[in-house]
Amino acid sequence: MKLRSVNLEHFRSYKELNLKIKDTKIVLLTGINGIGKTNLLEAISFLSPGKGFKNSKLDEVINTKSNKNSSSIFFVIENGNNKNEIGISLSNEIINNKSLNRKTIFINGKKIKRQSDLPNLISLVWLTPEMDIFFRTNSLFRRKFVDRCIFNLNPNYLNYLKIYEKNLKERAKILKDSVEEDFYYVYGKNKEKDLWLKKVEERIVAEGIKIYLERIKFVNDFNSLSNSFENFPKIEIFLKGDIEQILKNEKLEKVNKFYIEKLFESRKLDSIKGSISYGPNKSDLKVLFLKKKLLAEKCSTGEQKIILISLIIQFCKLMNKNNKSPILLLDEIVAHLDEKIKLHLLNELKALGNQIWMSGADINLFPKLNNDKEVLNLKIEDLIKQ
Ligand SMILES: Nc1ncnc2c1ncn2[C@@H]1O[C@H](COP(=O)(O)OP(=O)(O)O)[C@@H](O)[C@H]1O
Ligand SMILES: [Mg+2]
Repeated sequence: MKLRSVNLEHFRSYKELNLKIKDTKIVLLTGINGIGKTNLLEAISFLSPGKGFKNSKLDEVINTKSNKNSSSIFFVIENGNNKNEIGISLSNEIINNKSLNRKTIFINGKKIKRQSDLPNLISLVWLTPEMDIFFRTNSLFRRKFVDRCIFNLNPNYLNYLKIYEKNLKERAKILKDSVEEDFYYVYGKNKEKDLWLKKVEERIVAEGIKIYLERIKFVNDFNSLSNSFENFPKIEIFLKGDIEQILKNEKLEKVNKFYIEKLFESRKLDSIKGSISYGPNKSDLKVLFLKKKLLAEKCSTGEQKIILISLIIQFCKLMNKNNKSPILLLDEIVAHLDEKIKLHLLNELKALGNQIWMSGADINLFPKLNNDKEVLNLKIEDLIKQ
């Protein structure tokens, strides 16, 4: 899977940008700070469901100088013998005095309704400086990463998450209404509500288990490749959480029953907390640095950075094995790496064979890539002058 052209209109610092990419494996974006390297990578990241790798508010990305209420991005993507055109419009409209942000997607000129159609056509994997906090921040950040990995492998997974979230909201609302009537939810006070909760919780469990099973499959598939590095840290991942533990040892029926019981028991507490005490939204991703037998969270910040790179590359290998060959977006990835690791990294990346978009202040940051036929160096200064 490769991007063959990228056109931006009114996106962040770009009024207009037209790029054509011939058959190069690595696209190096270089230029001084603030020139627009990250902006260009961010534009590409909108090819994934969601709001790009910065999780931006959509109206933030519209070029402030162009007096427009939308940005547009067009891509030509080549996948084997197939070429597809994807157009994305990010707009802000005022409707009935309300400001509404919208991401509209066109595939070969046809508007699509669901973002989950995107990963069927294109997969992206990214690593940005914002992710440096990966092992030091809350579990939500890591869970989102895992979920993103899985929906890239199986776009259907996005729908499981959506249904799950919808039912969580419904449960929270019923419980909240109970708090308004009493101090907290009390079983048996309102039979209709109890029945409704039971139905919603059954749906939560059904969808929750699908999510768990997909995650367990992902972890197993990922770890089956953990010997694939020569000069980079070998890692293994696992998920830590309540139901996961039981799923490992018990039959599905038993897990189902246990999960339902736990939700029932926690209604009172959850009505006070305003959240849910059990489920896949409680799991955390743990990464084990095999050589030191140490969890990544206990490693130094320098080690954490290379472990994170291992995580990304190993995921790419898994995607490649599944014939998905993602495009990699690596923003400022070589900053703060020592020379030896940098060389190992560039060798690993080249060996992957995927199309890789990388940024850095100048080409000297990337030893060996200078004068490499497979590398295209795009100097942003020159591009925006045209
Ligand atoms: N919506 C916008 N309209 C115009 N300029 C923007 C917008 N959003 C960000 N910028 C500008 O883009 C520049 C940052 O570009 P960036 O891609 O992060 O640079 P770098 O090359 O250092 O990665 C900043 O100068 C910022 O002011
Ligand atoms: Mg940048």
